[in-house]
Amino acid sequence: MNSNWFKLVMKMTKVEYGKNLLLKGGTDRLQQGRCQVEDWGENVTIKSSFLSNLVGLYSRTIIVTRAPGAEIEIGDNVGISGATIYARKKITIGDNTCIGGNCKILDNDFHPIEAEARNKLLRDENGGDSDLVPSREIKIGKSCFIGCNSIILKGTVLGDGCVVGAGAVVAGKFEDNCVIAGNPARVIKRL
Ligand SMILES: CC(C)(COP(=O)(O)OP(=O)(O)OC[C@H]1O[C@@H](n2cnc3c(N)ncnc32)[C@H](O)[C@@H]1OP(=O)(O)O)[C@@H](O)C(=O)NCCC(=O)NCCS
Repeated sequence: MNSNWFKLVMKMTKVEYGKNLLLKGGTDRLQQGRCQVEDWGENVTIKSSFLSNLVGLYSRTIIVTRAPGAEIEIGDNVGISGATIYARKKITIGDNTCIGGNCKILDNDFHPIEAEARNKLLRDENGGDSDLVPSREIKIGKSCFIGCNSIILKGTVLGDGCVVGAGAVVAGKFEDNCVIAGNPARVIKRL
């Protein structure tokens, strides 16, 4: 499927995107429930085919607004490679930020941590919309560099100019210009 097809689908599903959107390979976008908002800036590049980023992508880029009111905002000049961006609340990605291959940005846990609540939702066919799923907004600043295969968890705030090391598991709040790495991710230097 070519990128014009995806742009048409995005227009039909009311995704706002700026000029020069470049889609390399089919991106999967899914909006479930009502009132989701997606706002993409100018010169956004989204890579999805295996060799579109030579780090080797394990899957296409997947962008999901899940649950009523979920929002995703992508700034100008953002590049995304084979990432999953899954919002139940809100995910913001600042201008000039690069999201490395196979990164996961998840503002929610998909399931409650309490077994009773989790089991209840498994039986409920509308369970995916439940407020019981722990969810907190993620903010990624401007000019950040997110390394490949990293996982950004709910509630994370990265200041402008942050760098996330390859394979990091990130939860928490980090000031501008921090380099963070590891699991759990910690500041390894300041720029
Ligand atoms: C985080 C990163 C930018 C740091 O690079 P750097 O500033 O040159 O840092 P160094 O290589 O000097 O490493 C500094 C320390 O951090 C550790 N470190 C570096 N990267 C790490 C990572 N991803 N995970 C865990 N520890 C890491 C090093 O082992 C070193 O530890 P030490 O001081 O105990 O010896 C780099 O290692 C990295 O992960 N780059 C991402 C590459 C990538 O994913 N590109 C995108 C592909 S799509």
